[in-house]
Formats: sequence, C-alpha cells, structure tokens
Amino acid sequence: MASRASIGLFSILFGAGAFAFWNVYGDGAQAEEKAVASAKKPLIEFTSDGKAKKPVGYRKWIYIGTPVTPNDMNGGEASFPEFHNVYIDPESFDHLEKTGEYRDGTVLVKELTSVGTKKASSGNGYFEGEFTGLEMSVKDSKRFAGDPGSWGYFSFGHKYPLKEAVAKNDVASCNSCHETNAKNFVFSAHYPVLRAAFSTDKK
Ligand code: HEC
Repeated sequence: MASRASIGLFSILFGAGAFAFWNVYGDGAQAEEKAVASAKKPLIEFTSDGKAKKPVGYRKWIYIGTPVTPNDMNGGEASFPEFHNVYIDPESFDHLEKTGEYRDGTVLVKELTSVGTKKASSGNGYFEGEFTGLEMSVKDSKRFAGDPGSWGYFSFGHKYPLKEAVAKNDVASCNSCHETNAKNFVFSAHYPVLRAAFSTDKK
C-alpha cells in the first residue's frame, strides 16, 4: 500500500515533470512564433505618408566595403564624410550572386563614421572613429516607379542624433549621380565583396 510519503513524492515528481514538459514546449512554441513574426517583418519600414523609417539591424547584413572621403582631402568638408561602411541585405546579396542583378526590394545602407585617429601601432593612416551619419538606397518598382531605375534615396543625416524617418531625396540630389556614374546605380567598382560576387570565380 502506498504510504502518504510516497504519494507525496510521486506528486512532487509528476508536478516537476509536467512543469518541465510545459516549459520546454511552451518556450519552443514561443520561439517559433518569434521566428514567424521576424520572417514576416519587412526589411525596412515606411510611415503612412511614405517616409522611410531609420533602418535597424543592418550591421548584421552583408558588409561590402568602406570607401573613405576624408575631410582633409576635400577642402575640409567632404560631401559624404568620411568613412562609408556599406551593407546590402542578405537575400538581395544571394540573388545578386546567382543572377548578377539587383532584385526588386534590394536595400543598401551606407553608414558614415568619422576619422578617429591617424596613428596606430600598424602605422599612419585613417582609422574609424564614431558613427556620424546614415544613408540608404532602395530599389522598389512599385514605390519608386517614377524614379530612374526604381531606386529611392534617403539621408538620415550627417550628424547624431539621426532622423527617425525621412522623405525621399530629389532625383537630382542623389539618384542622378548614381545613374550617371555607377553601373546599375550601385558603385560596385568600389566594393571588393560585390566585385567578387559578380565574378564567375566565386570565393
Ligand atoms: C556626386 C555623386 C553622388 C551624389 C550626388 C550622391 N552619391 Fe551616393 N555615392 C556616390 C559614390 C561615388 C558612392 C560610392 C563611393 C563612396 O561611398 O564614396 C556612393 C555610394 C552610396 C551608397 C552606397 C551604395 C552604392 O550605391 O554604392 C548609398 C546608399 C548612397 N550613395 C546614397 C546616397 C544618397 C542618399 C544621396 C543623396 C543624399 C547620394 N548618395 C548622393 C556618389 C554620389
């Protein structure tokens, strides 16, 4: 006959087991929900009046290179100071590698940083300082149907705090320079990672 003590022990063990079961499956379901939610979340967001919201998470995208136009080589004031760390969203990078084309929905982010120091133990040079600005280009044949190449250009500012949401820049102030001087609107010649992606001999 089961003693009171063993019934008590049984209910404690059963209770712990049921709790563990609930815990594992409860967490699993939550993680799945989160994954579904993040898969559905668009890469970038727009306000109801068509402004682009400041992108998030782009530092985890594909980093493609860093042109630098330092102020001291540009009369003290470069138009895009100073380092430009450029990222492309991962799915568009995959598509680019496979097809050589920028898919509809491609997002490129260029994050500006200051020149911090010009000396390091490796030698003299330009070394990145602080984050200073953020720009973005987006290819979207519906939203930017009227713009050359369907590319929209956005500037969140060249000093912190950055703007939270901005309207598209005029074609003349951004798009036309890209249209005239870059291949397919993107300055891929300056990004070794893109050059390698276009090459048939992919690393
Ligand atoms: C006078 C020409 C010119 C104008 C005007 C211009 N850009 Fe660019 N842009 C460049 C060049 C050159 C690069 C690549 C080298 C670099 O970053 O210095 C570039 C790179 C970029 C990139 C990285 C992806 C790419 O296409 O290579 C973004 C994003 C960008 N520009 C956004 C903008 C925005 C937003 C504006 C308007 C506020 C703008 N640009 C105006 C010349 C221009």
